[in-house]
Amino acid sequence: MSVKFSKPNISNADLELVKSTIKSGWLTHGKNTSLFEKEFRKFTNSKYSLTVSSCTAALHISCLSIGLEKGDEVIVPAMSHTATSHAVEYTGAKAIFVDINSITGNINPEEVKKKITKKTKALIVVHMAGLSCDMGKIKKICINSKIKLIEDCAHSVGTKFGSTHAGNFGISGCFSFYPTKQITTGEGGMLVTNDYNFYKKAKRLKAFGIDKDINQRKKQGKYDVLNLGFNYRLTDFQSALGLKQIKKYKKNLKKRHSLAKKYLKNLKHIKEISCMPFSYKCSYFVFQIFCKKRDELLQEFKKKKIGVSIHYATPLPFMTYYKKKYRYKKNNFKFAKKYADQNISLPIYPSLKNIELSKIIKTIEKFYGYK
Ligand SMILES: Cc1ncc(COP(=O)(O)O)c(C=O)c1O
Repeated sequence: MSVKFSKPNISNADLELVKSTIKSGWLTHGKNTSLFEKEFRKFTNSKYSLTVSSCTAALHISCLSIGLEKGDEVIVPAMSHTATSHAVEYTGAKAIFVDINSITGNINPEEVKKKITKKTKALIVVHMAGLSCDMGKIKKICINSKIKLIEDCAHSVGTKFGSTHAGNFGISGCFSFYPTKQITTGEGGMLVTNDYNFYKKAKRLKAFGIDKDINQRKKQGKYDVLNLGFNYRLTDFQSALGLKQIKKYKKNLKKRHSLAKKYLKNLKHIKEISCMPFSYKCSYFVFQIFCKKRDELLQEFKKKKIGVSIHYATPLPFMTYYKKKYRYKKNNFKFAKKYADQNISLPIYPSLKNIELSKIIKTIEKFYGYK
């Protein structure tokens, strides 16, 4: 029996809506796009929402909409997907990396404070594996230093801090619907914001910088172009899939919580590993463990045909592009380095069976000599 690392939760009913949308011939700018945006804003309790072609696109237009340009600095975590820092660099601004907290994997607010200069325009945080950053501390820093806050919510559909859904703490929240994520549209993403002016700017940048939507145009085909925008639209059949996914997500989130509890209960006796903590506010994009002899354990999972992943194996400042550009010293970012060397992301999707979970747990127990 092999175990997949991730399995999108796509039912026949979901496929029916995708199929009927494609058959209708109305493949983009359609009603599923607005319905998905509406349903997502209901779920996150945000005022405005915009479907986009990826989380990277959402991050990019967020960076442009706050007016980033050459010479500006934006603080980002040293441990993330490269989309977080790339979005900053696309604008000509400079990504300033900051170390993480080695237990949560999230950016360390104390380290953020040390890196703020006159050039700092914004901070981007990532809620690693769906576990929220300390948004109380983060918000305070941003308000006191008068810098904008962007949340990279690529792991965070269902993540809360206090009673507030991730994505609502700063100027924007950027979500990803890549296939391994909690909900998926293949590729795709959503930008949420509570600021009307920001929403208007981001909406224009998402579609070529055009001033009017198709249904706002008084004369057919007549529009003006106000900015150097992009084509970052999501198709209507992808939105149909997203709409179906978000509608059933509350139930799926419960299943993720129950699987996280099972992992924690069954792994707590293994001294050689530590696990991410349990919280109903965490959306468990993956279930992360941190272990000694990580690479040997990875080999064992491979032998047993158990799909796992690593988030992430190299701190961003040590990726060639950034290493060449900024020449950080090897002994910088020691917690991000430790995290990169020790983490494994285990499967935690709703259709993961008990027998599959047992196989994963037994593999770990056996590897460390507990069975
Ligand atoms: C933290 C983080 N940010 C951004 C992205 C980019 O998301 P997308 O593939 O939707 O552009 C990812 C992708 O997995 C991610 O993990």
